[in-house]
Amino acid sequence: MPAIDPAHIPANLRPVIEAMCATGAQLSRVIARGPLAGALGAGVGENSDGDQQKALDVMADEMFEAALEGTGVKYYASEEQETVLTLDEGGRFALATDPLDGSSNIDVNVTIGTIFSIFEAAESAEASFLRPASDQIAAGYIAYGPQTLLAVTFGAGTMLFVLDPDTGAFVLAEEKMDLPVAAKEFSINASNRRHWFPPVLAYVEECEQGVDGAKGKNMNFRWVGSLVAETHRILTRGGTFLYPSDARKGYEAGRLRMVYEVAPMAFLVEQAGGKATDGVAPILSLTAEALHERRPFVFGSAEEVDRIAELHG
Ligand code: F6P
Repeated sequence: MPAIDPAHIPANLRPVIEAMCATGAQLSRVIARGPLAGALGAGVGENSDGDQQKALDVMADEMFEAALEGTGVKYYASEEQETVLTLDEGGRFALATDPLDGSSNIDVNVTIGTIFSIFEAAESAEASFLRPASDQIAAGYIAYGPQTLLAVTFGAGTMLFVLDPDTGAFVLAEEKMDLPVAAKEFSINASNRRHWFPPVLAYVEECEQGVDGAKGKNMNFRWVGSLVAETHRILTRGGTFLYPSDARKGYEAGRLRMVYEVAPMAFLVEQAGGKATDGVAPILSLTAEALHERRPFVFGSAEEVDRIAELHG
C-alpha cells in the first residue's frame, strides 16, 4: 500500500513524496516509542553551524537521505550536513530538509517535525538552492504529535493529510487549508525581550495591551519551541509567529534557516492565504546566499503581518 494516495501528488513528484511519507511514518513509530527506542534526545555532536545534534537528528537525516535515493532527487541538502550531497546525477529535483525540527522537545513528548523544500535541480548544487524562494515547486512539513500530519503544497493551495497508524498511509484530511486573516494569538520567544529592536517590542506591547490598546482586542500568547508545531497551529486557527533579528551576537538575522525552515514554511503559509516576511519583505521574494544562512521570520494572519511591516516602516 502506498504511504500517500498518489492522486493528490503531481506525477513527477510522486516517488519523492512517497519516500518522504514512508520515512515520516517510520520515524513517527520511532518517536512514539520514545525512551523505548533508545536515547533519542542524547547529544551526539555539533552540526556545521555549531548547533548541538541529537541522536534523532542524525537518525532522521540518514533515513531521509537513504529513502530519497532513486526517487529523482539529484541534490540533497540537510541541516545536519555541511554540504549538498549528489544522490542521483540524472535526477531532476533538489530537496532541502530540516529532518528533525524542534529537537529540544524530543525528550519531553512535545510535537517535533520534518520540514522540506523542493526545487527543480539547476546546473549546480549551489544554483539549485541559492535562488528566489518563489522558485520552490513544493514544500511541506510532517508534524509528529498526538497525530502525525503532513501539510504540503505544490503551488495550488496547502493540503493536509493525517497518518492512519493502522495502515501507515497518509490520508487527505483537508484539501485547502485556510489561514484566518485575523488573529487572536501571537508567538515569540519572550525571554529575548531585552534584545529586541523597537518595532518588535512595539508589536508585542500592542498585543499585550489587548482591548485597552490600539488593537482593541485581547491576544493570547503561545510558544512551543517547535517551528512545525507553531506553524501547524497558525495554519489551523490563525495567529502570528516572530523569530526576528535581535541585538544578541549571532542573531543579526534571527535564528531560523532560510533554505530548509523559512522558505518552505513561507510557501505553505502563503498558499493557505497567510503572509510571510522577514519583518518587511515577503520571504518568497528573497534569495538565499548561503545554504545554512539565517533569516528573520514573521508569518501568519495577513492583518498582523501587515501591521508588523507597518511598525518597521
Ligand atoms: O530549528 C530551530 C528551532 O528549534 C525551531 O523549531 C523553534 O521555532 C526555535 O528553534 C526555538 O527557538 P528558541 O530556542 O529560541 O525557543
